Amino acid sequence: MKVAVLSDIHSNIEALAAVIKDAKDWGGCEWLVAGDIVGYGGAPNECIEMLRQLGAVCIAGNHDWGAVEKTSIYYFNSAARQAVLWTSKNLSAESRSYLEELPLTLINGEISLCHADFTNPASWEYVFTLYQARRQFDGFATRLGVIGHSHVPFIVQASEEDGRAEQVMEESVKWERGSRYLINSGSVGQPRDGDPRSCYLRVDWSGREIALRRVTYDVAGAQRRISEAGLPSSLAERLPLGR
Ligand SMILES: [Fe+2]
Repeated sequence: MKVAVLSDIHSNIEALAAVIKDAKDWGGCEWLVAGDIVGYGGAPNECIEMLRQLGAVCIAGNHDWGAVEKTSIYYFNSAARQAVLWTSKNLSAESRSYLEELPLTLINGEISLCHADFTNPASWEYVFTLYQARRQFDGFATRLGVIGHSHVPFIVQASEEDGRAEQVMEESVKWERGSRYLINSGSVGQPRDGDPRSCYLRVDWSGREIALRRVTYDVAGAQRRISEAGLPSSLAERLPLGR
């Protein structure tokens, strides 16, 4: 069983299409999304439609619920707020009800999903430090917990025996018995770790491997779409920088 976990697609259809192709070539047969399907980019309805056709199981991110007025956007910066308001105005009726119905968390087999913070999902707190990551293990009970939100990928491994948790420095790890993992699957549509390539998570249960995977995509096409939509130019300019 091969599972692809995507997060923070942010209406970037060029990136989403490239990731789906890459995961299909790998043999991915199950699709999970850890939130922020929309926001920032110029193709919200197209991204939702592509995920629906795939049968992806999705949860809500702050941008998804922000676009349908289910969570506050008061703390969003100016570009993010403009993009959420533009998204809200341009959502089809089907897309709107799809986003409204997304849950905050879900459990799919041995994988738990939460966009930001397992210990308080509606708070939209960020997990940046190892200290914050360690606390996340109290918020889910499955073998893997996957978050997004910061757009910075990582894998943290925790021992069930003594509770110690450490960051895995490699991009892939063989799943070890007696270990649980907290993973930030990175961002499909707006990476912020200095690498402009899309990022997603591959979970291969039979090969017992967990891997962060990078994929190149048509950045210029995504930039064009942002500018044609009249969205802030900073949202296009950051894509090739991975910032
Ligand atoms: Fe995001």
